[in-house]
Amino acid sequence: MRISVSLSLAVFACAALVFGPTAPAAAQPAAKPAAKPATKPAAKPAPITAATPPMGWNSWNFFAGKVTDKDIRAAADNLVATGMKDAGYVYVNIDDTWEGERDADGVLHTNAKFPDMKALADYVHSKGLKIGIYSGPGNKTCGGYAASLGHEEQDAKMYADWGIDYLKYDLCSFTGDVLEKQAPDDKAAQMRLMVAAYEKMGKALKSTGRPIVFSLCQYGWDAVWEWAPALGGNLWRTTGDITPRWDRIYAILSQQDGLAKYAGPGHWNDPDMLEVGNGRLSSQENWSHFAMWAMLAAPLLAGNDLPNMKPEVKTILTNKDVIAIDQDRLGKQGTRAYSDGEVEVWTRHLSGGALAIAVLDAGDSRYSTHPFHLNLAKLGLHGPQTGKDLWTGKPITLTNNQPLELASHNVLLVRIDTPK
Ligand code: GLA
Repeated sequence: MRISVSLSLAVFACAALVFGPTAPAAAQPAAKPAAKPATKPAAKPAPITAATPPMGWNSWNFFAGKVTDKDIRAAADNLVATGMKDAGYVYVNIDDTWEGERDADGVLHTNAKFPDMKALADYVHSKGLKIGIYSGPGNKTCGGYAASLGHEEQDAKMYADWGIDYLKYDLCSFTGDVLEKQAPDDKAAQMRLMVAAYEKMGKALKSTGRPIVFSLCQYGWDAVWEWAPALGGNLWRTTGDITPRWDRIYAILSQQDGLAKYAGPGHWNDPDMLEVGNGRLSSQENWSHFAMWAMLAAPLLAGNDLPNMKPEVKTILTNKDVIAIDQDRLGKQGTRAYSDGEVEVWTRHLSGGALAIAVLDAGDSRYSTHPFHLNLAKLGLHGPQTGKDLWTGKPITLTNNQPLELASHNVLLVRIDTPK
């Protein structure tokens, strides 16, 4: 691709001032200034919900079913204390297992781990952060807790009353509770039922009048990226669950091919929450996972143990240059340009004509492709390209067929502001 600097032509519309015939001097009192036409000032467009991929922290990947009110408060405190809030992580999302029982009026209560959800939401808000919650369209959540079937409006209103800013809505028991009961062996009818269930909650959230990010979690079935935006979905899971293992992370990355065109401001592909800092991921794997999620314009929802975060994990999660790629206002998801053996080269077009290039060694041996020769021509680039290596933070020049030494599961991520 030859990068053509797109010159935006500023067109100045010159308003022609038309004067009427001049009145004879002194024959009449000075004309009053013409009354302004009664035009209403143009209404400000409503801000887009999730104009860039949502950033924050979610309880599931580290705490799973053990999360408590105290952990959520500690997460909020630590987002502030570690500088993650300043880096853009604003949502503190409670995943499954906060739910108690419904009372005779259908009102869902919290369980003992979350004694007062409104007070918790107020606490999170007092830190300048936002709060998210979790439910699903079936009778039960994936963890077997009460979900929203038949109580969609009631639940949405309760979330809004609590001050909730984000809802993750997880399919789970809807499959058995509704799809298999109402439309056994009829895939098309099942799909219609599922879409209707998500639409119902989308409408219920909208009618609260509160901007609530709507996150669809149904594991990327039935081309969710094609229908989720129309029903108010701001993001949708594209895969099954992530785990803190490189092979799983890489498998998810591989499944994102072809989905780039569905992402954009307000509506994002979600390859699942971050595992950075979890399990036994090496530093390189943590880095590559984070870098590639930024290339994917993925929601950046950290899922680690914030109060005990290692400095190297914090350094990765707060890398401002990588976050800037993820949050780029164009919202164009990156794509795999080509691969050679186990090395993959991805590119992402950024605002202002900039380009991010990621060279990922997905292989298991130390130097799976040794050395790897970067083919700039395959990226449509001509001649040496000067940019910034986002791991070292130093300038770097990439030349055609340049040999690159890449350790296993490592990525070279480069931002080029003026590609040629
Ligand atoms: C599903 C989701 C996970 C998590 C759990 C909670 O597995 O995919 O992200 O929300 O449910 O039970």
